[in-house]
Parts: sequence; C-alpha cells; structure tokens
Amino acid sequence: MLNIDLTGRRALVAGVADDAGYGFAIAKSLAEAGASVVVGTWPPALNIFLNLLERGKMDASRALASGAKLEFERIYPLDAAFTTLAEAPADIRENKRYKDTGDFSIDGLATRLVSDFGERPLDILVHSLANGPEVKKPLLETSRAGYLTAMSVSAYSLVAMLARFAPLMRPGGSAVSLTYMASERVIPGYGGGMSSAKAALESDTRVLAFEAGRRFGCRVNTISAGPLASRAASAIGIIEKMVEYVAENAPLTDKLAASEVGDVAAFLSSPLASAITGNTVYVDKGYHAMGMAVPPESASTR
Ligand SMILES: NC(=O)c1ccc[n+]([C@@H]2O[C@H](COP(=O)([O-])OP(=O)(O)OC[C@H]3O[C@@H](n4cnc5c(N)ncnc54)[C@H](O)[C@@H]3O)[C@@H](O)[C@H]2O)c1
Repeated sequence: MLNIDLTGRRALVAGVADDAGYGFAIAKSLAEAGASVVVGTWPPALNIFLNLLERGKMDASRALASGAKLEFERIYPLDAAFTTLAEAPADIRENKRYKDTGDFSIDGLATRLVSDFGERPLDILVHSLANGPEVKKPLLETSRAGYLTAMSVSAYSLVAMLARFAPLMRPGGSAVSLTYMASERVIPGYGGGMSSAKAALESDTRVLAFEAGRRFGCRVNTISAGPLASRAASAIGIIEKMVEYVAENAPLTDKLAASEVGDVAAFLSSPLASAITGNTVYVDKGYHAMGMAVPPESASTR
C-alpha cells in the first residue's frame, strides 16, 4: 500500500489557536501520518488556546484514528509580524499578552527550536496565518497602514519564516502555506489588501520554491483552500454566505471539510510529493474551475 508516512519527522505549524481552522486540521493530518507537531500561536490568542486544551474542550477534535490524542510537542508564542524581537514596538513588548512570553518573533522561535531539538530540528513548515485589520473595507477605502499590515503578516511572514526555518530543515524539507482564490478573482467583501496579500503569497511561492529549492533542497507549495468558517474567516463577516455559495456552485456539492485540506497538506509535506514544488494546489471542491454560477433550473445534486 502507498502510505503517507511522516514517522520521525517534525512539523512546525504556525497559526493554530483553536480547533476550527486549517492550521489545526493540518496539524492533525500530519500527526495521523506519524509526524510530531509543534505549533506557533499568536500571543493574544495563546492563553485562551492553552485554557481550551487544559480544560479538555478540544478533546473530541484531538482524537486520532489510532485512538490516541493529538499532542503538540511544544506550543511556542509567535507573532509573525516581527522577524526579530527588536522590530516589535515597545507597546507590543510591554503588552500584558506579550510580556511574559519571551522572544515571540520568528527569529526567537527558530532559536527556541534549535535549543529544544538541536541544529536541524525541522522537516515540515506550515504557514497557516493571516491578518488584515481592514479586511471588511473595500480596497478603494483601505489605508496604506492597513494594506501594508495585511501584506506584512499574511505574505512577507512566509518569506521571513522560510529564510529562518529552511536552513534548520533536514533533507527533503517542505513548506506549505494557505491561500485563497481572491488572489486571482474578485471576491467582494474580501478587502483590506488581503486579496493583494494572497496574490503576493502565490507569487512568492514560485520564487521561494526556486530559491529555497536550489539553496536548501526545500519544496514550497501553497494550498488554495475553499471557504471555511474558521475564527479568522468569521472576521470577514460573510463567511457563511461564501461557504454556501461554493457548495451550491462547485462541481462537488458536499461541504468542504478542513480535514480534506489537512490531508492534502500532509501529502504535499511527504516524500510522495517529492517532485511537487512552486505549486498553487486548489482544494476547493473544484470551485476554481467554474466561470458562472449554476442557474437554479440546472442545479442538480447527487
Ligand atoms: N477560512 C477560509 O475560508 C480560508 C480560505 C482560504 C485560505 N485560508 C487561509 O488559511 C489560513 C488559516 O486561516 P483559517 O481561516 O484557518 O483561520 P484561523 O483563525 O484558524 O487561523 C489564522 C491564525 O492566524 C493567527 N494569526 C493572526 N495574526 C498573526 C500573527 N501576526 N502572527 C502569528 N499568528 C497570527 C491567528 O491567531 C490564527 O490562529 C490563513 O492563511 C487564511 O487566509 C482560509
């Protein structure tokens, strides 16, 4: 049998703070395939996440097929807006949610990984985070600061993370990020420069695949996922409508499950995908292939 076997590999999943998003689903699929998983969690969400874990609120979603429970080898604080701690302004560093977390920058996380697990601690990087403070505003009304924050947190962070983490990877390393088709088609309501950030992320995926491939032998891919009512997506305000619209108009009409994205991420991170790099892989029930909404009279489901 052809298996996804990640036994003995370690994954860093950046962007997990509950069990509702793609990051959690990917962490779970990676663990199902045998990988050990460490996560990077945004400091403002860290305590809530730790509480949920401690109080057993996520036990049901942590159940693995083997009967074991998904365990995170480490949970590190990470604010991907900062490559180094020195870049973080004083009001952030002194903020009550940040001040006791230690070095929460990308660089700080890399240093902790090396001190916890040695010089080459990593095989798999998953970038599953985004933030656009003005996501509800049309692009025409987006401020320069809002636009640049969306780009910084949602796109540049992948560049910074790969620069810091690819050298820590063992041979056969892989990086996967999450994008959305608003990068290439207009999705009304997905504003604030988030569409621009996803376009940058996809373009950077190709360039980083070339550069990190040549330099570190690391593969870089991005998954263009269909809409999911995660915590982040709920901030857009119209996520339920987006989910419904896709289910009504995609070639496959059953609702997209986060685990389906998780399984593709596990495949892309595995040796089975050793020749796949620089790709945007659609995991969206085929919705990206459509050029017109399904007229009600021809709507048919199985
Ligand atoms: N939900 C969707 O419909 C959808 C569709 C396509 C792509 N995506 C992408 O999937 C990825 C994961 O998002 P999700 O929808 O699963 O939501 P999510 O809420 O599970 O994940 C987003 C995570 O980003 C973290 N985050 C925000 N700012 C951060 C920062 N500065 N530093 C570190 N972490 C930060 C949040 O704490 C959260 O854990 C994102 O890149 C998102 O754009 C989502």
